[in-house]
Amino acid sequence: MGKSADMTKPQLDPYEHAFHLDPYPRYRAIREEDPVHFVQDHGFWLFTTWDDVRNAFRDFRTFSNANLVALEANAEASLPYPSFINTDPPHHTEVRRLFSPLMTPEALAPLEAFIRDRTRQLMVPHLASGRIDLVADLACFLPMDVISNMTGIPPKDRDRVRGWADDLILREDKQEGLSQRNIDGYMNLASYFEEFATGHAANSTGEGLLAVILKAEREGVMTHPEVIGALILLAIAGNETTTKLIGNIAYRLWEHPDQRQLVIDEPKRIADAVEETLRLDGSSQIIARRVAKDVEVQGKMLHAGDKVGLCIISANRDKSRCPAGEIFDITKPTRDHMAFGFGLHSCLGAALARLEARVVLEEIIKNIPDYNVEVSGLEMAHNPNVRGYSRMPVTFPPRTG
Ligand code: HEM
Repeated sequence: MGKSADMTKPQLDPYEHAFHLDPYPRYRAIREEDPVHFVQDHGFWLFTTWDDVRNAFRDFRTFSNANLVALEANAEASLPYPSFINTDPPHHTEVRRLFSPLMTPEALAPLEAFIRDRTRQLMVPHLASGRIDLVADLACFLPMDVISNMTGIPPKDRDRVRGWADDLILREDKQEGLSQRNIDGYMNLASYFEEFATGHAANSTGEGLLAVILKAEREGVMTHPEVIGALILLAIAGNETTTKLIGNIAYRLWEHPDQRQLVIDEPKRIADAVEETLRLDGSSQIIARRVAKDVEVQGKMLHAGDKVGLCIISANRDKSRCPAGEIFDITKPTRDHMAFGFGLHSCLGAALARLEARVVLEEIIKNIPDYNVEVSGLEMAHNPNVRGYSRMPVTFPPRTG
C-alpha cells in the first residue's frame, strides 16, 4: 500500500489530538462510505460496521491477537513482557480460566461497600466549596484503588503505580509510536511488579487475584515474564478505561438534562446510563488485530501480516444494528454492544467496570445532582484507543452542614 492518501475517501488520524475531541462524525462517514477503510498514512485497516467487527472478534484464526498486536509500530519491540491478552488459544484459554471466576458480578459484589466508602471519602472534602474535578479529584483514584486492593498493592505505592500507568498511556499531538516516556512508564511498572512478585511469592496458596497469578507460575501455567505482564495488564487495563468511562457518563448526563432528570428521579436507571454511555461513548475505541491469513472483507483483500483496528464504538453506532445509533438515550439501553469487545478476549473486568461506574455515579447523583460542567476547564486525555477526559471541573451550590 502506498503512503499517499486518496483524498476522495474520508480520512482519519487516530494520533491527532483534534480528532479525539469528536471522532464520531468521521467514524460515521467511513462506516457509510468506505466501511473497510485502509488508513494509508498509518498503514492499518479500520473495520467500522457491526458485522465486520463482530466477525473479526469471532474469527481468531484469521484475526489474531498474538504477539502484542498494537496499532503503534514500535509497541511490539518496546514492551517486553508478554501478556495473556496477546495470546491465542489454547494458551489464552488456559490462563483466562484462572481469572474468570474472580471477575463475575457475584464474586465482585463484596467490593461495592469499599467503592462507595472510597467515593464518599474523595467527594466529601469538596462539597462545601461548590467545586470538584470529577476526573482529577475522584474518578482517577477509584479504579486503581480497587484493583490494588484486589492484587495487594499497598496504599503508599498506588500514586506511583498510577503515575507510571498514566505515563504509558499519554500521547503528544500526532505522536505515532511509543515515546521514551511511554516506555519508561511501562518499564517502571515492570520493575515494581518484579519486586512485588518476589516479595509475595509465599502468597501463592490463597484464593485472591495475586495468589492465582503466583500459583500459575509455580505450577508452570504461566512463565515469570507472563506473570509480570499480567500484573501490568491488570494495572493498566482497568485504570484509564474505567476512569474515562466515569467522566464520559457524567458528561453525557450533563449534556442531556432531560436524561439526568430521569436518573435523579429514579436512581436505578443509573445502570442504564452506564450501559448507554458504554455503547455510544465507551472509553476503549479501537482494538488491534493482525491478519493471520489472506482474507477478503467487503471486496477488499487483506494479507497475512496486515494490521486491523476494530472500531468498536463505530460498530456500536451502526444503524443496521441500532437505528438511532448516534443518539444518547438511556431509556433504550442495551447490553448488546461491543464496548468490552466480544468473544475470546472480551473484557475480563467488565463486571468490575460496571460496578465502579454505577456506584460512583450513584454518589454523584445523590450528592451533587445539580453539577454544572465548566467547559473551559475540560481537558482530554489523548490516546489512539482510550477516549475520555483527564480534567472535568464541575460547580454546584456549596453544601453546608
Ligand atoms: C470501562 C472500562 C473498560 C473498558 C471499556 C474495557 C475494554 C476492554 C476491551 C475492548 C477488551 C478486549 C480487548 C481485545 O479484544 O483485544 C478488554 C480486555 C480486557 N480487559 Fe477491559 N475494559 C475496561 C475495564 C477493565 C477492568 C476494570 C479490568 C480489570 C480489572 C479489565 C481487564 C481486562 C483484561 C484482563 C482484558 C483481556 C482479556 C483477555 O484477553 O482475555 N478491563 N477490555
